[in-house]
Amino acid sequence: MAKENPKAHDPLKDIVALCKRRGFVFPGSEIYGGLSNTYDYGPYGVEVLKNLKDAWWQAFVRDRDDIVGLDSSIMLHPRVWEASGHVGNFNDPLVDCTACKARVRADQYVEEFLGPEMVTEDLEALQKLFHAKHAELQCPTCGKKGTFTEPRQFNLMFQTRMGSVSGTDQQVYLRPETAQGIFINFKNISDSCRVKVPFGVAQIGKSFRNEIIARQFVFRTREFEQMEMEFFCKPGTQKEWFEYWVEFCMHWLEEIGLKRENLRVRSHSADELSFYSDNTVDIEYKFPFGWGEIWGIASRTNYDLTQHADFSKKNLTWHDPETNEKYLPYVVEPALGLNRLLLAVLCDAFAIEHAGSKEERRILQFAPAIAPVKVGIFPLQKKDGLLELAQDLYQDLRRNFLCELDSSGSIGKRYFRQDECGTPLCITVDYESKDDQCVTVRHRDSTRQERVAIADLKDYISKALAGGA
Ligand code: GAP
Repeated sequence: MAKENPKAHDPLKDIVALCKRRGFVFPGSEIYGGLSNTYDYGPYGVEVLKNLKDAWWQAFVRDRDDIVGLDSSIMLHPRVWEASGHVGNFNDPLVDCTACKARVRADQYVEEFLGPEMVTEDLEALQKLFHAKHAELQCPTCGKKGTFTEPRQFNLMFQTRMGSVSGTDQQVYLRPETAQGIFINFKNISDSCRVKVPFGVAQIGKSFRNEIIARQFVFRTREFEQMEMEFFCKPGTQKEWFEYWVEFCMHWLEEIGLKRENLRVRSHSADELSFYSDNTVDIEYKFPFGWGEIWGIASRTNYDLTQHADFSKKNLTWHDPETNEKYLPYVVEPALGLNRLLLAVLCDAFAIEHAGSKEERRILQFAPAIAPVKVGIFPLQKKDGLLELAQDLYQDLRRNFLCELDSSGSIGKRYFRQDECGTPLCITVDYESKDDQCVTVRHRDSTRQERVAIADLKDYISKALAGGA
């Protein structure tokens, strides 16, 4: 069997290192020794996140007449999570190793070490299996055998308490998805806004899941951000809308720059489908560690509205004013993870040119709309009025584009720094600029250089960022 070369290049390691070095993503609470699997987004990272959120909001809300926005609370009434099924069903089975205290997902352990055909979702069956094989089962962390506890269900919702007076405080959950905040506002929105089924409600916000195993950088974390949209439609039309939204989402991912060959649509098999769903696909991205879900698109029937109507005793029926029909709308839900999307965008954009040579160039080839900085401005020298000229240019251009003025180190070093941050255009102000009022513009991916009149720069940059120059 071919062994993996231990020195083989791991692009994820390079990307993680670049993210820290250049201020995209830092390990969380680092000066206190770190808090495992938490991350903080630095100055460039936060710009990319904002660009991704803006692009999503534009496509899903502002460019459309049939979707409105919402920002619901992270803490909702605890009954919401009973109605949604999260209190009863949002569990992973886990075992602990009594020797090294490692926590292992029982179903994943069975799949990996006993074979996929042995996997079961039934807790009792899983307990019997672990019981029967107890002495043989080996902890993957410490290697000891016969040290696993019995599998038990572990609810993934974080709990906290609300209220300051002891005894009157209430146990609440941090939301594990943004979706339920939308369902419980269905009536508010349909009563207060001029919406008509079919319509959607979109929301961006943090979600929390106490994942047993969190890993692969920002791919799976316990605190993350979601961009979800619930599209309410007439029962019977959900299949058409489902196909429409799968297509729409794939198209959007290509529009923000992801390569088609790194994306695929994977349908859930019958035994993988949630019990309330009549169809679900995952849009997956080909990460360096394999294909991973970034966007789940689920046809959720009228399960959520039925549950909330039942638990809240409120009438959530939609009354169509034109046809006089009354029904609980069906829902198609595209649910995207912002942090996973960021990781996909970073992996897709990362390139090393002339690797290992003196001219090695590390580039983030972001689509211009996603790049944190759009234009780097370099005075060739700090003296002879060049710095002042560059500063004037910076003050003027920054009103239209996010710019960075960099006057330290050689021009080569400054290009290197901007390439690593994915800046599409760099402008050098040189001695001739004082006489001819022109500057040199260099394009990130092709390294093509062009002399452009300062008076034409804004137009030139706008076109170049739109892909036209
Ligand atoms: N409302 C449906 C829902 O939440 P999901 O498939 O559980 O569906 C949607 O989550 C998306 O949220 C996923 O495709 C993924 O991108 C992101 N996501 C889920 N759990 C995550 C985690 N622990 N860390 C980072 N992103 C996560």
